[in-house]
Amino acid sequence: MAEKFKEQAVVIRQEELAYGIYSMWLKTDKIAAQARAGQFISLYCRDKSRMLPRPISICQVDAADNALRIVYRVAGKGTEEFSTLGTGKEIEIVGPLGNGFPKKDKKAFLIGGGIGIPPMLQLARELTCEKQIILGYRDTLFLQEDFRGLGKVYIATEDGSYGTEGNVLDAIRENGLTADIVYACGPTPMLRAIKQFAAERGMECWLSLEEKMACGIGACLACVCRSREKDSHTNVNNKRICKEGPVFRAEEVDIG
Ligand SMILES: Cc1cc2nc3c(=O)[nH]c(=O)nc-3n(C[C@H](O)[C@H](O)[C@H](O)COP(=O)(O)OP(=O)(O)OC[C@H]3O[C@@H](n4cnc5c(N)ncnc54)[C@H](O)[C@@H]3O)c2cc1C
Ligand code: FES
Repeated sequence: MAEKFKEQAVVIRQEELAYGIYSMWLKTDKIAAQARAGQFISLYCRDKSRMLPRPISICQVDAADNALRIVYRVAGKGTEEFSTLGTGKEIEIVGPLGNGFPKKDKKAFLIGGGIGIPPMLQLARELTCEKQIILGYRDTLFLQEDFRGLGKVYIATEDGSYGTEGNVLDAIRENGLTADIVYACGPTPMLRAIKQFAAERGMECWLSLEEKMACGIGACLACVCRSREKDSHTNVNNKRICKEGPVFRAEEVDIG
C-alpha cells in the first residue's frame, strides 16, 4: 500500500485565477515526490472549530522541488481560510491520498468540468499517449493556458462565450472527436453522461468521483458510493471514494 504522510507544508505562492478560484503552490517534505495524477491531499484548517480536513485534488506536481499545486473554489469556511494564506504560511496536510488515474497508452479524451478541471492538468503532464483535452466551463475560463502544449485543447462554455456552446460532450460531437479511452473529473451529471457516452461506443472509461469526506483515509465510511462488486472491507456493494477511489472504472460504480 502506498505510503501517506502528515506534514506542515509551506505556501510558496497563491493567486486568484478567476473570481473565487485560487491556485496555491505548496512546498512539501515528502508528499509531492510521491504524488501522481488523480490523487488528492487533505488540508487542515487553522481554525480548530473545523476539525475535518478538506480534500483537494493534486493539480500539478514539481517532484524535483518537492512542490505541489492545488486549484480550488471557495465553497465555505475552510476553503475561505485557505484563500487567505500568503507566501511562507504553514498548513497541515495529509497525502498523497487515493488511487490516481491508471496510465494507458491509448488515444485519450481527458475531460474536466468546472472545478474537476485541475486534476486533468497533472494527468495531461503524465500521459504520453495522444491526448484530446476537453474543458467545460459555465462562463469564466481558468487554467486553460496551462494545458497548452500538452495535447489538443477543446473548450465548451454553457453560455457560449468561448468555444463550443454547451457541455463537454457537445464539444466532442461538434469537433467530430474520437478516442479509445476516457478520463474524466467533474460534476456527477457530467460524469453520468460521459459514462453513457463511453458505454455506447465501447470506450474504456475512468471517472474521478467526489463525495463529502470526513476521515479521508478509509476509516469512517462517510464517502461511500454504490459499486458493482462487494467491498472486501465491509462486504456490501460499497466503495470508499477516499480509499478505493476517487478514480473508478465507470462500470464499477453506480452514479445514478
Ligand atoms: C477527492 C476530492 C477532491 C476534491 N478536489 C477539489 C479541487 O481540486 N478543487 C476544489 O475546489 N474542490 C475540490 N473538492 C471539494 C472540496 O473538498 C470542498 O469544496 C471543500 O471541502 C469545502 O470545504 P469548505 O470548508 O470550504 O466548505 P464547507 O463549509 O465544508 O462546505 C461548503 C459547501 O461545499 C459543499 N461541499 C463540502 N465538501 C464537498 C465535497 N467533497 N464535494 C462537493 N461539495 C462539497 C458543502 O455541501 C457545502 O454546500 C474535492 C473533494 C473531494 C472529495
Ligand atoms: S472519508 Fe472516511 S472512509 Fe472515506
